[in-house]
Amino acid sequence: MSRLVVVSNRVGSTREAASTGGLAVALIEALRDSGGLWFGFSGKTARSGTRKPEVVAEDGFTLATLNLPVDEFQGYYSGYANGCLWPICHFRPDLIQFERTHFDAYRQVNRRFAQALAPLLRPDDLIWVHDYHLIPLAHELRALGVRQRIGFFLHIPFPPPDLLDALPEHEALLHWMLDYDLVGFQTQHDRLQFQHCIAHNGGWISDHTVEAHGQSVQAGAYPIGIDARQFHALSTSPAGAREFRRMRDALHGRAQIIGVDRLDYSKGLLRRVHAVEALFDRHPHTRSRVEFLQIAPLSRHQLKAYDDFRHALESAAAQVNGRFAQFDWTPVRYLNRPLPRRTLAGLYRASRIGLVTPLRDGMNLVAKEFVAAQDPEDPGVLVLSRFAGAATQLDAALLVNPYDCGEVADALETALSMPRAQRRDRHARMMSVLVEQDAAKWRADFLRDLRGARATRSGKRRAR
Ligand code: G6P
Repeated sequence: MSRLVVVSNRVGSTREAASTGGLAVALIEALRDSGGLWFGFSGKTARSGTRKPEVVAEDGFTLATLNLPVDEFQGYYSGYANGCLWPICHFRPDLIQFERTHFDAYRQVNRRFAQALAPLLRPDDLIWVHDYHLIPLAHELRALGVRQRIGFFLHIPFPPPDLLDALPEHEALLHWMLDYDLVGFQTQHDRLQFQHCIAHNGGWISDHTVEAHGQSVQAGAYPIGIDARQFHALSTSPAGAREFRRMRDALHGRAQIIGVDRLDYSKGLLRRVHAVEALFDRHPHTRSRVEFLQIAPLSRHQLKAYDDFRHALESAAAQVNGRFAQFDWTPVRYLNRPLPRRTLAGLYRASRIGLVTPLRDGMNLVAKEFVAAQDPEDPGVLVLSRFAGAATQLDAALLVNPYDCGEVADALETALSMPRAQRRDRHARMMSVLVEQDAAKWRADFLRDLRGARATRSGKRRAR
């Protein structure tokens, strides 16, 4: 059996995975199965960075992390990855802040990663690179003579050609993606956008293969899943049940709408607050009977776009409370503290509606966890943006256009008055999708295809 090597910007330890869950849990299981290696950024910056990674034994796998020079890290992470790639992939070209030095730092960090990782590799390793921070990694590894199979999975959406064109250096990104043996996307739609971009830039596409500059790569869709049964168990565990009771007691019989997102402009939080306001305007009988709880841990706050967005959101939430609150009812409650998974599981179960309305999202695991946490006999309703990857699988949710606050408000009202039989039916349909297409299937499908992938590489491309 090949050893699995996972590479990502942030790495997860066993301890953190227990509280953050999601991807880390899925990957750690696979790493343990093969005695694998997880490589990434240590989270520590220093004036000059380090060349050699720190290697530690975790429970059943190895963790190798690298410190980065502070300037390079800022250019790579805040400058290019989150200041250019993130906004373009989430359809916000207006937010791009391109600077050549940031792009150079992005390449340089990927080169550092490759130089530090290459000596740790074994001949039959299977290498799995994650997300937009590390698009050039295979190119840099190939330049060092690495011939092992390398797969790439993009967790965020892939933009259409006209949008990608607006991103300086996008041709280089597309070329770098051809240095992988397999590139994976969350949805077929994202895979097709990638193929359109290759064709738009002079390459060839056929079925699941794309070709350009004498090189080919396979492309597939692998919707990321959760361990739905385990998350359900968490919501009924003693800790989950305690949080559930605490939440229900605090609600005094009112119905709760819950949103849980990193504080990010792509999550649609501002329009969501306006949709809740529209609910109280259009359906006055819901006033005093419904509360909206938004949990929004701060994220990437060193970037101006995030800071500006936070202020806009705070002012919108305050405005709705100013308009509607009564001395014994606060319509919008908003907190920036991240909560442990067991608490979230209990809060989801205690909520009547999960409101997940990103303007664009690769998949969205909150939507899946909300469904998994419900009581199947008396479940809450998921109101889900049609622009989240999860909408392709969870079509039994109430699907909405997050740009239309009136439509979202009406969906909230429909969810509040939905008969139990319909709620049970919708929930059962979604739960069976979640159990069937879970995290284990996501990684098994990707790794199966990576093992079978046959890329062609020309010497010319390698010399780029
Ligand atoms: C998204 C990205 C991940 C990233 C996460 C948190 O889910 O796809 O790669 O790690 O956001 O963002 P942060 O910038 O805090 O790592």
